[in-house]
Amino acid sequence: MPALSGQADPIIYSVGMDTRSFGPIDRIFGQIDKAIKVLSAPARPSRPAPAAPQAEVLTEPQRTLSARLMRVNHSGEVAAQALYQGQALTAGDAAVSAAMRHAAAEENDHLAWCEARLSELGGRTSVLNPLWYLGSLAIGALAGALGNSASLGFVTETERQVELHLRGHMERLGSADPRSRAILEQMTHDEVQHGAHAASLGGRELPMPVAVAMRLTSRLMTLSSYWL
Ligand SMILES: [Fe+2]
Ligand SMILES: [Fe+2]
Repeated sequence: MPALSGQADPIIYSVGMDTRSFGPIDRIFGQIDKAIKVLSAPARPSRPAPAAPQAEVLTEPQRTLSARLMRVNHSGEVAAQALYQGQALTAGDAAVSAAMRHAAAEENDHLAWCEARLSELGGRTSVLNPLWYLGSLAIGALAGALGNSASLGFVTETERQVELHLRGHMERLGSADPRSRAILEQMTHDEVQHGAHAASLGGRELPMPVAVAMRLTSRLMTLSSYWL
């Protein structure tokens, strides 16, 4: 995830001997570039997938179910990239920025693992991903604009809901697909850490209606990406 330097001082990058200052227009193009990469280029993980490739022994109905569940999880990780990116656009704080960057790098691993697993299962990514990306970018930007405690609280609540969602998917997979399950287990572990870290940095509990709205939005995404 890009630095959470939002509207603060211009970001300075060194490219060889050339030191350049990037303004708002550069940042907009940077965001567009990031969106294109998330939506159309294969994600590159920084950690190997949690389970080594193995001969598939899935029945056809099991393979279909796994592919649908992993498509939903892939969409969730596309949304996670946009949420962090949106928060980066409008928030600013060094400690928060570092925590968000660390979490975003792990989210990118999740994105890559889900994408690779989906491909192994012969599945496809959701056609609705651009919609989830744009919506999540807007929601993230709004959360970031509300200040650090709200933004961090948003991360904590999001990760709490994602954890419950992932545990539900692991139950549905059962023991039939250990490779997908291993990916979801590592993702769950990471999401719990992200949520706890955001809470430790000062994330505040979100009002109940906001948490409920987040659950409903997530439900809509889960149901539609399962089929589409
Ligand atoms: Fe994730
Ligand atoms: Fe996370």
